[in-house]
Parts: sequence; C-alpha cells; structure tokens
Amino acid sequence: MELERILHRHGFGSRKICRALIRSGRVAVCGIPVDDPFADISVPDLVFSVDDVDWPYCETATIMLNKPAGYECSRKPIHHPSIFSLLPLPLLERGLQNIGRLDADTTGLLLFTDDGKLNRDLTSPKRKVAKTYAVQLKHPGGPELVRALLDGVLLHDEQDCLAAVSCSLTGVRSLELAVSEGKYHQVKRMVAAAGNRVEFLHRSAIGGLSLPDELKPGQWRWLGDAELVRLREGA
Ligand code: URA
Repeated sequence: MELERILHRHGFGSRKICRALIRSGRVAVCGIPVDDPFADISVPDLVFSVDDVDWPYCETATIMLNKPAGYECSRKPIHHPSIFSLLPLPLLERGLQNIGRLDADTTGLLLFTDDGKLNRDLTSPKRKVAKTYAVQLKHPGGPELVRALLDGVLLHDEQDCLAAVSCSLTGVRSLELAVSEGKYHQVKRMVAAAGNRVEFLHRSAIGGLSLPDELKPGQWRWLGDAELVRLREGA
C-alpha cells in the first residue's frame, strides 16, 4: 500500500498533508526514513513512525485509557476537560469513540475504538458484558449490603430491579462489584438504593480485560491481539 495512503488511513490528515509530511523526512518505516509518498509498503506487522513516535498499522484501532478523575466522557464537555484531550490527534482524526462512559469523578479502564461492531457488541445490554468496579463506601459495609446488591435493588425510573453480577467486601468500607448493564450512574445509584453511598469509584475490568498496573492515570496504550481476542470472546 502507498505510504501516503497508510498515513491518511491512520488519521494524519488529507492525502496532500500526508504527502508533505512524508516529503519533509518526518516519516520512517521500520526505523528507516522514507521520503517517497508513493513507496509501496507491505502492511502486515508494519510499524511506521512519525516524528519518532511509533504507529502500528491497524485496520481498526482499539485502545485502553486509564481515565483520571476530572475528565468528561464527551466531545463537548461542560465542567471538565474531555477524555479526548488525553489522546493524540491522529486517533481523534480516525474517529475513535469511547466504549461506554464513566462519570467525571470515576477513574479506571475506558476503551476506545473505531470498530463499530466491537463498540455495539460491548455495550449491547443483550451481551451482558460484566464491568468490574472497586467501590469506596461512605459507611462500613456488611453482608446485608452485599446480599441486597446481589439480590437486586429498584432504582428510580427503572421498572425492574438491577442486581450485581458479583459483589464482595474487600475492606470495612470497600467492595468489588460487577454489573452487566451500563445505566446512568448505575453503581452509585445501586449502592445508594442499598442504603450506603459511593465515595470513590474505579473501573478495574471490562469482561476478561483488566486495567494493567503499569498503565498510569492519563496514559493510554494499544490493545494487543490476545487482549482483543479475549474482549471479542467476552462480548
Ligand atoms: N456507575 C456509576 O455510577 N458511575 C460510573 O462512572 C460507572 C458506573
């Protein structure tokens, strides 16, 4: 595939802009500078770089972000900066969308993709993909709180009770809780309906994919092939 086309597909701008970028000597393929926009490049396993930043060739792009507190899951945020401000421009140009949302004060695993099917599969209520949260509580929790969350609680504006997929105490004031829906403020509302209050919420996993310890708040990285397989299997 022509190098100019590869850059264009990866969100580096119009064909004209990509051509100029390549001609200016800022692009390398497998570590070797290439200034011919029409060079025919083999794409399987391709890693190219722009200004010394590596980009794997991806037909579709899926990444994970460790969302810090104080960012809104919106392209038009109102009170806080957007989560999209944490991503590099080429990913935004590719049209990556967040898979589900986290509240501005919630931290942890947030996925983005330009693969519409993957996004629909992971967010479809029918697929029941578990989202796991570490929950800090205002008041001490006990077995009755866990029981209520597992049995199901009725939220305002909902017709049916919502029950946690799993729930266990991890400390005097902390829980690990998984839910399969993705309703507005779901965990906070469930915990409130069960008679306690969420002080802090962190998403640690989606399906079989956990947030890696080494990914610090505000950092993002590509999903590996095995992680993508695990995610698709879980959906
Ligand atoms: N449930 C909530 O209440 N908030 C989130 O951010 C995610 C799940």
